[in-house]
Amino acid sequence: MTTQVGLEFKNITKRYGPVVAVQDVNLAVGRGELLTLLGPSGSGKTTLLKLLAGFEVPDAGEIVLNDRSIATLPPAARNVGMVFQNYALFPHLSVLDNVGYGLRYRGQSKAERHARAKKMLSLVRLEGYDDRYPRQLSGGQQQRVAIARALAIEPDVLLMDEPLGALDRQLRLEMEQEIRRLHHELDTTFIYVTHDQEEALTLSDRVAIMRNGRLTALGAPRDLYEQPPSAFVARFFSNSNLLPVDSIVTNGNGIRICSLGGEFELPGKLPDGKVALVANPSAIQIGDSRPGTLSFKARVKDAVFLGELVQLQCQPCINDKLGLLTVRSSLAAAAKAKVDDFLELAIPFEKLRLVDDN
Ligand SMILES: Nc1ncnc2c1ncn2[C@@H]1O[C@H](COP(=O)(O)OP(=O)(O)O)[C@@H](O)[C@H]1O
Ligand SMILES: [Mg+2]
Repeated sequence: MTTQVGLEFKNITKRYGPVVAVQDVNLAVGRGELLTLLGPSGSGKTTLLKLLAGFEVPDAGEIVLNDRSIATLPPAARNVGMVFQNYALFPHLSVLDNVGYGLRYRGQSKAERHARAKKMLSLVRLEGYDDRYPRQLSGGQQQRVAIARALAIEPDVLLMDEPLGALDRQLRLEMEQEIRRLHHELDTTFIYVTHDQEEALTLSDRVAIMRNGRLTALGAPRDLYEQPPSAFVARFFSNSNLLPVDSIVTNGNGIRICSLGGEFELPGKLPDGKVALVANPSAIQIGDSRPGTLSFKARVKDAVFLGELVQLQCQPCINDKLGLLTVRSSLAAAAKAKVDDFLELAIPFEKLRLVDDN
């Protein structure tokens, strides 16, 4: 990632009647960066891409792409490439003509267009498919054609809206690698939209998390995963558990908390407003109630084998009205855990996080 800003949303707001689809978004994306927009359905991701591509005009704010203000320019004048989930290829055009389509309005000869299209097909590893029609391709191949078409115009930024959503899991993993490779080989800025946090984790230089039209968090995947800034991000991005807080007070230089029958102190100051105590599923250990941990008994309600890992849903015994806790454990540690077993669980204090819960 370069530090130079390639793209900037400044105070962008977009309303559809009474619905505020995007609200006061400020976001600077580095030139050549791969940024993921992640958020639940309806959080404003597609709207943000449409504003960038020129299919919508903002009610307020400005969009700057490579030092040019573009928010009111027509789509064709923006030099933005777009890839959709449903490929949106032209069924009556061959693969080669699909890829060269965007070049028709750039005053290039047929020979130039074909040469460029062939180069793009080789970039996405579809040499020899020139004369096929979209219906003669698999879903993954169609999406490669769509990516080649979007890249053919040499866009300043490539936008992808849930491009792998229609593919099965194995193909999705392959295409994720393919997108990483392409991004590596090109200098283009990529904006990638997904509602899948694992996809965001594997692909992104940085992740921008959307919630109800607002940008709620921005950071490197690992930082957001390990140090979520809010309960929303903790739950949505790292599937973190929300732990009950029975009491919480400032105590000298720290914060004293009672939870799940234990009492402990975390460093730092008590934040203003509502707070939540969260723990990542992999922070909860089985059968290890050593000092320095919050330990408690729980009953296994569900156990799912995930290969190297086992995921358990556990009910803390102290109060069966509490929600289930998700525990991700190595196969070795969880090998004997069966539904209805009682387990001793422990969370090291340093793995507990107190976060904003608004
Ligand atoms: N053309 C439209 N007319 C009215 N409301 C819309 C339109 N497009 C999107 N919305 C609303 O704007 C909000 C954000 O939608 P969208 O950007 O599509 O979210 P996402 O892509 O994150 O699922 C949603 O509440 C959606 O219903
Ligand atoms: Mg969408």
